[in-house]
Amino acid sequence: MAQLWGGRFTKETDQLVYRFNASISFDRKFYEEDIEGSIAHAVMLEKQGILTEDEKNRIVKGLTGIREDVKGGRLEITDEYEDIHSFVEANLIQRIGEAGKKLHTGRSRNDQVALDMKLYTRAEVVHVAEEVEGLLHTLLTLMEENLDTYMPGFTHLQKAQPVTLAHHMGAYFEMFKRDSLRLKDIYGRMNYCPLGSGALAGTTYPLDRGYTASLLGFEGPTLNSMDSVADRDYLIEFLSALSTVMMHLSRFSEEIILWNSNEYGFVEIDDAYSTGSSIMPQKKNPDIAELVRGKTGRVYGALVSILTTMKGIPLAYNKDMQEDKELSFDAIDTVKGCLALFNGMLKTMKFRRKVMAESAMKGFTNATDAADYLVGKGVPFRDAHGIIGRLVLSCIEKNTSIDALSLEELKEISPFFEEDIYDAVRLETCVEKRLTAGAPSQEAMKEAICACRTFLERSWLKEKA
Ligand code: ARG
Repeated sequence: MAQLWGGRFTKETDQLVYRFNASISFDRKFYEEDIEGSIAHAVMLEKQGILTEDEKNRIVKGLTGIREDVKGGRLEITDEYEDIHSFVEANLIQRIGEAGKKLHTGRSRNDQVALDMKLYTRAEVVHVAEEVEGLLHTLLTLMEENLDTYMPGFTHLQKAQPVTLAHHMGAYFEMFKRDSLRLKDIYGRMNYCPLGSGALAGTTYPLDRGYTASLLGFEGPTLNSMDSVADRDYLIEFLSALSTVMMHLSRFSEEIILWNSNEYGFVEIDDAYSTGSSIMPQKKNPDIAELVRGKTGRVYGALVSILTTMKGIPLAYNKDMQEDKELSFDAIDTVKGCLALFNGMLKTMKFRRKVMAESAMKGFTNATDAADYLVGKGVPFRDAHGIIGRLVLSCIEKNTSIDALSLEELKEISPFFEEDIYDAVRLETCVEKRLTAGAPSQEAMKEAICACRTFLERSWLKEKA
């Protein structure tokens, strides 16, 4: 065991305690962030006259060397250290001697870990947003290609009114667009640097916290040293946004699973994204969509876990907060993986346009339009609703559809029906007459697509590149 403290102790730490307490097995994940933060700290210490130029240079060179050696596989991060901070500091001292012992001046592991976790999370916010954007591009392409791919729209999973595939994909575009904007907000709100807050009450050294913050690409320093070391709100916000991304992916997966079923047959998932059964040779299963739906649970789990961990913690830093890492790392990696796989599956999926259109024509999806037709002929909507209800009932009894009835049969139900009813209840008419903003007609969809395209052209990620 190698630890940074021990002066006031007369006994060795119990082995089990040491292992229970240690975080190196997982915080090694942000060794680069730890080194980046330490370099900024050393540069600031020199500017403030706390380190000499020579000491600073040796520290920066030593830290850079550690980073390169770990990256190149020449230096292994081993469990003999308590955490990544101890590993880096001990290695630095081994490499450069006395100057290395000065790096921790005016710093505590509490503000150090707060910084490392923030740097790591900030980069991951961008990575997740990039994956979300990749999916948005796929959705936009599908929208552009499917303006007249008719399909049934559902409420209560019952056929309701006809829409188009472009419209349906457009709904998901809006959902993932909000996810992207949530990530942007989180980035802006979290982008303040905690380094220089010390253990909790700042420090007596004349640190320039604004300078350290600018070296690390932050908007500025955080404003309260106790909050700085005790704040994990940004992580909770991020996990909440990730949970929402997964909720969206899960709903989408559920639809794809239904659409891919023998009963619907709307889509065919590409062989590269399907799996077989060990016993039933005919099967091609939508495992990727099912797994994405299933993995939603573990991301929600990470959110609930950190909310629960944080709820009883008095100010300022407490060791409970070490629990912020493992599940967060897992959730972040899970979401990135799910987004990438889902995008690949969607891109390669075949839509069976004929099946979708035929399905849209069944199930009286034009009943609302038939009622609207009567309204056009002067019948009050409530009466028209009743008339079409009776019409649908008689069609069900005769196992037929509205447009298959003769004009005489229609007139028996209402004298207001004329020859133009047939055009009014055609699938194309039902969709193309829906011209309100956000509706499925091609005209309305073209407007929506324009806005989606602009959103992607003005991506907030471009500023972060
Ligand atoms: N491993 C700790 C964590 O992840 C680092 C901070 C430790 N600070 C301390 N005073 N023990 O939270």
